[in-house]
Amino acid sequence: MRLCVVGTGYVGLVTGACFAATGQRVICVDKDESKIERLRRSEVPICEPGLEELVVENAKAGRLAFSTDLASAVRDVDLAFIAVGTPPTFDGEADLSAVFGVAQQLVEHANHDLVIVLKSTVPVGTNAQVQRLVADAKHETQVVSNPEFLKEGGAIDDFMYPDRIVAGVRPVHDRARLLINRVYHPLNLSNTKIVWMNPESAELTKYAANTMLALRISFMNELAVLCEQVGADVQSIRRGIGSDPRIGPQFLHAGPGYGGSCFPKDVKALVATARRHGIELELADATNRVNVRHRSFVARKLKRRLGSELAGKRIAIWGLAFKPGTDDIRESPSLTTIEFLLNEGCKVVAHDPEAMENTREMFGDKVELVDEAYDALKSADALVLLTEWREYQYPEFDRIKELMRTPVLLDGRNIWVTYRLAEQGFEYEGVGVQAVQS
Ligand SMILES: NC(=O)c1ccc[n+]([C@@H]2O[C@H](COP(=O)([O-])OP(=O)(O)OC[C@H]3O[C@@H](n4cnc5c(N)ncnc54)[C@H](O)[C@@H]3O)[C@@H](O)[C@H]2O)c1
Repeated sequence: MRLCVVGTGYVGLVTGACFAATGQRVICVDKDESKIERLRRSEVPICEPGLEELVVENAKAGRLAFSTDLASAVRDVDLAFIAVGTPPTFDGEADLSAVFGVAQQLVEHANHDLVIVLKSTVPVGTNAQVQRLVADAKHETQVVSNPEFLKEGGAIDDFMYPDRIVAGVRPVHDRARLLINRVYHPLNLSNTKIVWMNPESAELTKYAANTMLALRISFMNELAVLCEQVGADVQSIRRGIGSDPRIGPQFLHAGPGYGGSCFPKDVKALVATARRHGIELELADATNRVNVRHRSFVARKLKRRLGSELAGKRIAIWGLAFKPGTDDIRESPSLTTIEFLLNEGCKVVAHDPEAMENTREMFGDKVELVDEAYDALKSADALVLLTEWREYQYPEFDRIKELMRTPVLLDGRNIWVTYRLAEQGFEYEGVGVQAVQS
């Protein structure tokens, strides 16, 4: 099949590269000329394991091309995916201007009947709006809602081996149904993966999934705060409840709060959409409020630990990305922590295996970034761990202690909790955990 994917970010590039890897011909379009230039030189602008190899291989095989010219990219394609960003507006709603703009351009330049696939995360009702927008197009245009569930850091596997493929198609849109079946066939050989529904349900399914996962995290984070007050251990509770198959073990880790480009924006957008319909989604709203408060929890803990006077203290941070395996710092808890510490007058020295360039763009020289993790520790008054990258999992604690001025460790991900660090002379704190004693 011939496809075009508009928006060549995390979702669009993964979608394009993966479909190309199944033998289909894909043209990826973006308005960002420098991004397209880099991709044409086989430079992948984002960090996503396995993506670069896939892009290089398929571009070389002539199945994957890159362009800024949407008008010619849409000619002769069977399906056009829209994977542009839908960032939050000031009132929490999703900004759909790029989605509508692209849909309009697609139908303007299509030279035959077209199926538009909405892959961006969009609020319920967007499919209907786009369908109305393209109603007067020269060629018949059917609009499908096909939200994406990949997670950064594991995006290729998620796309290639999906748990499910949600497809929101109107009953009368047989052509759309046929083409969705065809394009996903290589990822759906068992013929069990596609969950068909109407577009409104598909749109809400995406928000429901992210909000449910975010809710679990916020719940555990709140519980962690209580655990610290009463001498309970949130990790034990996680194991205790996660072993119940009705609950399951995933997304029950207490930490510094959830971040990334999806959970915060999608939870807020769901609340805002519901409000527009006169409905108060109280659980979703609380999920967001708890997270906003919790994202400064680690920094507030540090303030308590070091005494109220933080000004002038040198604080090392390990981990800036919102999770391991990505360079993405959008809404990362590290941003709240850094801002808190800078406001208190601290000197912040940070390291991350992948996310330093993005952090530099955001903070300039307000934060010192070091290429080697241990360099952040020289004369540090505390080390704050915020992303559980593999390279931080078992560090050389002797070396850490030697380098730091005061051996205070604040482990925002509870990865060092079992290491008996008190015995090694550290002042250790996790999130809602009781450190293992000898
Ligand atoms: N990142 C994720 O893990 C993830 C997962 C599932 C769903 N989503 C959703 O997918 C959508 C895209 O997310 P992303 O993380 O890939 O975003 P992104 O910011 O990484 O990429 C979006 C791309 O769209 C391009 N773009 C914007 N307007 C355009 C236009 N008018 N014409 C052409 N290109 C345009 C931008 O230049 C950018 O390259 C969002 O709605 C997001 O919520 C993201």
